[in-house]
Amino acid sequence: MEREILEIIRKRKSVRKFSDRTISDVQIKTLLEAGQQAPSVRNGQPWQYIVIKNQENKRALSALKGSWHPLSQSAVGLCMFVDLQEYPSTHKEFFAQDCAAATENILLTAAAMGIGSLWMGVYPNVTLEMAVKNILKVPAEKTVFNLIALGYETENERKAHRKEPIIYWECYGRSQ
Ligand SMILES: Cc1cc2nc3c(=O)[nH]c(=O)nc-3n(C[C@H](O)[C@H](O)[C@H](O)COP(=O)(O)O)c2cc1C
Repeated sequence: MEREILEIIRKRKSVRKFSDRTISDVQIKTLLEAGQQAPSVRNGQPWQYIVIKNQENKRALSALKGSWHPLSQSAVGLCMFVDLQEYPSTHKEFFAQDCAAATENILLTAAAMGIGSLWMGVYPNVTLEMAVKNILKVPAEKTVFNLIALGYETENERKAHRKEPIIYWECYGRSQ
């Protein structure tokens, strides 16, 4: 079990070249169910999604930033957003941690299902956020966290390098 989860964590990587193969609504719902299992402040589960299959919208979003081009080739895009008016803590900035946890659950579950993914950050870039909201008709009072591209990988893209973790034991500066 421990080995299985580590294998999936190691297998996950950003995928930027997608094939034409589609993803079903059942698969999308499985991924979003995985997102729902993430920890969140006061169990608020603040994330909401727009599922983007429409090619025109994917293309318009992908044009907003150079590195977002993979979205236009992806099978499905997800836009994760929150309504901070409903957020269950006065420290509303915590929402980003909630959403990051849900995003990682989605990406890891996608990896386990053989589906490639790419996390495209929106928050806290207000200019990008406004452009995304405009395309997806998201009301002004909502806060867009990110976009996620999903699809099947065409080429076996290289896994990004990992550094050794920096670890102190018991207090800052103390090596084992
Ligand atoms: C908050 C955040 C924002 C990101 N935004 C982008 C992005 O706009 N475009 C992109 O190509 N990758 C983006 N990524 C993916 C990172 O570049 C990628 O995770 C990192 O290079 C490590 O590679 P890996 O995901 O293959 O392990 C983002 C990742 C995070 C966590």
